[in-house]
Amino acid sequence: MVSQIYKKLDGWPAIVVGVLALAGIAYFGFHTYRNIEVEKTNLLAELETAREGNYSLLQQVRERERIIDSFNAQISKISGTVGTLEKLAATDEELLKKYSKIYFLNENYAPTKLTEIDPKFIYTNSKNTQIHTDVWPHLKKLFEDAREDGVELLSASAFRSFDTQSSLKSSYVFTYGTGANTFSADQGYSEHQLGTSLDFTTPASGTALLQANDPGYKWLLENAHDYGFILSYPAGNSYYKFEPWHWRFVGRDLATDLHDAGKNFYDLDQREIDTYLIKLFD
Ligand code: DAL
Ligand code: ZN
Repeated sequence: MVSQIYKKLDGWPAIVVGVLALAGIAYFGFHTYRNIEVEKTNLLAELETAREGNYSLLQQVRERERIIDSFNAQISKISGTVGTLEKLAATDEELLKKYSKIYFLNENYAPTKLTEIDPKFIYTNSKNTQIHTDVWPHLKKLFEDAREDGVELLSASAFRSFDTQSSLKSSYVFTYGTGANTFSADQGYSEHQLGTSLDFTTPASGTALLQANDPGYKWLLENAHDYGFILSYPAGNSYYKFEPWHWRFVGRDLATDLHDAGKNFYDLDQREIDTYLIKLFD
């Protein structure tokens, strides 16, 4: 009877085993899949946390960079200011003062440095042949460019010390009496003592003083500002008679502004003139 049943069930154990095996595999697969999913979710969460961490690090790096940039900008601003102050401190502020009967230079004042003007630009027998060393490159270029334009400008008198001016004025007073005051400054009041002014002439002028009808004067009127020079005593000025020969270095910026505005150096307020000191030799 049992064997008959067994016989009747013949084949089923294999099927049961197979089914159980499949169920086992499915169960295992499901578990593995779920574990992987959990793992994946965890990893994604970790990745997100890491990303957030990176983002915050990046923000911090950017903030540091911003601080460094602003620090560098401040340093460069400070060094710029220090540079400007050093430049100003090294520039003789007398060089832009009005010396015609307004300011006074004592007998001890002399330019910090003087250079001999190249003899090829010196008028015959001229004695006062030195110019402020920082003016010389500008003056040399002026002489050279004028020659290229066919104008032979020469220096008749450049730097004059307090004592030289004193002797010169005395000799003029001896000859012209008080009339000398119309064309010669007292010692201490001459722009020549600064070492930045000179009297031009040309061989065509035939005298030590450039005349208004000389082409050299016309050339200077049109071009001198490009080299930093201005005419100190134009016609109608309130200090001396018209001196077409006497030119003063005040720097390219100021000379050009005066030229373009049709103004004279002595028309400006001293405070306005002083703002150009920093650019005097640029
Ligand atoms: N000739 C000018 C005014 C001077 O003596 O400085
Ligand atoms: Zn002069």
